[in-house]
Amino acid sequence: MIRKFTFGTPICTEAFVEKFDACDVKDFPFEHKIENGKFVFEFDMTDTDIVYGLGQANRGINKRGWVYESFCSDDPFHTETKSSLYAVHNFLMLSGSDTFGMFIDFPAKIRWDIGYTSRNKVVISIDGLDFDFYYMQNTKPIEIVREFRKAIGKSYIPPFWAFGYQQSRWSYPDAKAVDRVIDEYAKADIPLDCVYLDIDYMDSYKDFTVDENKFPNFAEYVKAKKEQGIHLIPIIDAGVKKQDGYSVYEEGRDNNYFCKTEDGNDFEGGVWPGICGFPDFLNKDVREWFGSKYKVLTDVGIDGFWNDMNEPAIFYSTKGLEKAIDKAASLKGENLDLSKFFNLKDTFLGLSNSAEDYSSIYHNIDGKMVCHDRVHNIYGANMTKAAGEYFAKEFGEGKILMFSRASYVGAHRSSGIWFGDNHSWWSHILLNLKMLPSANMCGFLYCGADLGGFNENATRDLVLRFLALGVFTPLMRNHSALGTRDQECFSYEDTADFKDIVEVRYRLIPYLYKTFCKASEENDLIFRPLSFDYPSDKIARECETQLMLGDECMICPVYEQNVGGRYVYLPEDMTFVKLSGTKVVTEKMTKGTHYIEVALNEVPLFIKEGKQIPLCKPAMRTSLLDTGNIEYIG
Ligand code: GLC
Repeated sequence: MIRKFTFGTPICTEAFVEKFDACDVKDFPFEHKIENGKFVFEFDMTDTDIVYGLGQANRGINKRGWVYESFCSDDPFHTETKSSLYAVHNFLMLSGSDTFGMFIDFPAKIRWDIGYTSRNKVVISIDGLDFDFYYMQNTKPIEIVREFRKAIGKSYIPPFWAFGYQQSRWSYPDAKAVDRVIDEYAKADIPLDCVYLDIDYMDSYKDFTVDENKFPNFAEYVKAKKEQGIHLIPIIDAGVKKQDGYSVYEEGRDNNYFCKTEDGNDFEGGVWPGICGFPDFLNKDVREWFGSKYKVLTDVGIDGFWNDMNEPAIFYSTKGLEKAIDKAASLKGENLDLSKFFNLKDTFLGLSNSAEDYSSIYHNIDGKMVCHDRVHNIYGANMTKAAGEYFAKEFGEGKILMFSRASYVGAHRSSGIWFGDNHSWWSHILLNLKMLPSANMCGFLYCGADLGGFNENATRDLVLRFLALGVFTPLMRNHSALGTRDQECFSYEDTADFKDIVEVRYRLIPYLYKTFCKASEENDLIFRPLSFDYPSDKIARECETQLMLGDECMICPVYEQNVGGRYVYLPEDMTFVKLSGTKVVTEKMTKGTHYIEVALNEVPLFIKEGKQIPLCKPAMRTSLLDTGNIEYIG
């Protein structure tokens, strides 16, 4: 049963679709106090309790031993010590001596001290007094998740082809570059369904424009690619370039669709195109307007998008930059000592995503001016909602691929997410794995990380091992940053190994798609921590490097360099399967720990006793898969 407690007058986030009558706040289940305008409550844990949740967040599946902050952040360094990433999913669940879950529906900051200050204490500090609190109790974590997921509504299901392999890069600058990617994949005989258009496809980074010099006759080009079975997926950024004569900007300005400052002027901040207006996605009219802008691209046959920079990321504000430049000018010619130099340096470093800028932004919510600080965490979610609502209205559910960088619970009904700017680091294979069950708990089923890693140079073996995990993630996209080494499968030697891995994905698509749709229909998880299935098995409870997949499988990627395999823990007897292109090798294994050997061109998988999974033949496109011709393994 879900119990709701309402404090003050919460801002409506639309996280929930089910309605609940509020209980008497006197029955709030935790010790709490109000301190400096914050609502603070706490509870104790025993040594062996596990804390799950927080969706797409940093660190482990078990969230104990760190402090997290709910604050959508454009931070491309996902190091262990970070407290916030791009998304905010305020769902937390304790499992052990007691089992309960909670969701705090509050779009401003929340601090979650989960055994950080005091080992066995959780202290949650909400940065305001207006919020809804949902409390869920059950003996089983999975039941809590199902109840929560039912209440927040069904997860977005993308088109079938979005389960194909996808290649991205910042950026393929023009049609020639995109064609080369498609040709090289064809030459290497590696399947491919999508190629991404990062910011350089636009005219001067202006949303809903296409640079005619780079993509002459875009409509025909999109059509030609479709005929080759390739979907082009353009990026859309939150900021709209300030430029007279650019219709999207002019419409936004003239209709007061951009966020304001306190004095009623448009807030101006710099992103890729320079100074931008930021559409006020919290306003319904603005959402309708911005959503309808996607039409210019859907009209030419585009059927997938990724929404970016919507935390929102702000490199600098006009005001902030001016102040910094003035400061630098005033110091010209001075002999800068330690404090003066670093102060100056920090002034420039602090320009991006600054607290001062966020505080100066105002939204128009139902005619009321609301400071951005109060709603920061639902800005990006509402951008995606704008697009999702338009797509659902125009094309029906699930016809357009849509995923976003920033998100909040509720956005899972209209889109997926990707995990942002990770690194080509071995540790990020595991970070990717750990985010999956937590994101699923919060309704985000269509998700995945930049395979191979976004920032920095990736080695061949890293990309192969990353892809071998990505074979299972609904979004299987290889993406990398500007200036990094080429990361496409054909960019490395011996492409046959890449073909083997990507083909495994296509062979598994019937199974993965069915598992995905079932999880959406039944409010279930695709990926579960082992502890959900084996709650009294101590080793399974502590496992952070393997996941249960669907009702049948366990996955266990190799996540270290220069190793030919890994140790795996089997909580029961299972069949070990090594998949590779057209090859399938199986071996029965007993409960316990085993060392498994996995070559770079193999994908390891375990199937539970008595279970089987379907495999089809690989194909170059999802549209060419023969899903009627299935063999079962297990
Ligand atoms: C952001 C996105 C990244 C994209 C880049 C350029 O960093 O997270 O995926 O490639 O912007 O658009």
